[in-house]
Amino acid sequence: MRGQLEAGEVSFWLNGQPASARAGQTVLQAAKAQGVSIHCACYRDGLGGDASCRVCLVEIAGEPRLAPACHRTPTEGMAVHTDSEKVQRVRRTVLQFLDAEAVGPIDPLTEFGRLLPKKDPAEISEGTSVPDDSHPAIIVDRDACILCGRCVRACRDVQCNDVIGIGYRGTETRIIFDTDTTLGDSSCVGCGECVQACPTHALRDRSAEENRGAERAVETVCPYCGVGCQLRYEVRDGRIVAATGLNGPSNQRRLCVKGRYGFDYVHHPHRRTQPLIRREDVPK
Ligand code: SF4
Ligand code: SF4
Ligand code: FES
Repeated sequence: MRGQLEAGEVSFWLNGQPASARAGQTVLQAAKAQGVSIHCACYRDGLGGDASCRVCLVEIAGEPRLAPACHRTPTEGMAVHTDSEKVQRVRRTVLQFLDAEAVGPIDPLTEFGRLLPKKDPAEISEGTSVPDDSHPAIIVDRDACILCGRCVRACRDVQCNDVIGIGYRGTETRIIFDTDTTLGDSSCVGCGECVQACPTHALRDRSAEENRGAERAVETVCPYCGVGCQLRYEVRDGRIVAATGLNGPSNQRRLCVKGRYGFDYVHHPHRRTQPLIRREDVPK
């Protein structure tokens, strides 16, 4: 195995199988490259993680504690187990804690909701706070927030807007906008990066309900400026209901407010849908 490695690459064992990792790759990234997926909540490709959720814990032979796969890099000969009995047991507990972090129910169709075991309807708690619907495009439902911090990094590190923070302490801890105002009154520019990053739909598009029944997805290039951001439109009944940034060379999943939410012009009745011929007898 060693002879086939590139410079800086290390060989290690992944669930008993030989594996390799490029220089700087984490266990999570190396495992994904070999087709082994590891659950995570605070990490997302392109956004990184802050190792706060512990959902991605893996067992490393000879180490007494489990390690977060999103932050640990493999070393030569390391033996990693992503699904041992111990890992499964701890992951179940971690998911329970994170689920309990959300005051209200988490939509089972969301990225994080899909990791949770099915619940008895009697076990599902009602939320306690009123969603913040002050923003024209985004609803904030703090009851569904697990404080993973992805929205903070999306707004600050990816879009450099720095609108979102984690405020207060203990049971009062919650995401806040600027100095704790509503999202609508904050300095938010409506790029929607936080919505795209949120694994629980605590931050969601106003059109999310319409988006639920999307019939097909169309991958295309944003028609506005010349940057050429790649995106995917969700379509229902022949109408665009949502846009998601794709990993294109110029946008790397980001979109601005126009690409994210400015698609309603497509359906405007004045929009030209076929070429016109200029006639001499008709004034311009
Ligand atoms: S929409 Fe963009 S600017 Fe507004 S809070 Fe979310 S990431 Fe920040
Ligand atoms: S709003 Fe969503 S992305 Fe932000 S901390 Fe809560 S769960 Fe995470
Ligand atoms: S995904 Fe690794 S600690 Fe959250």
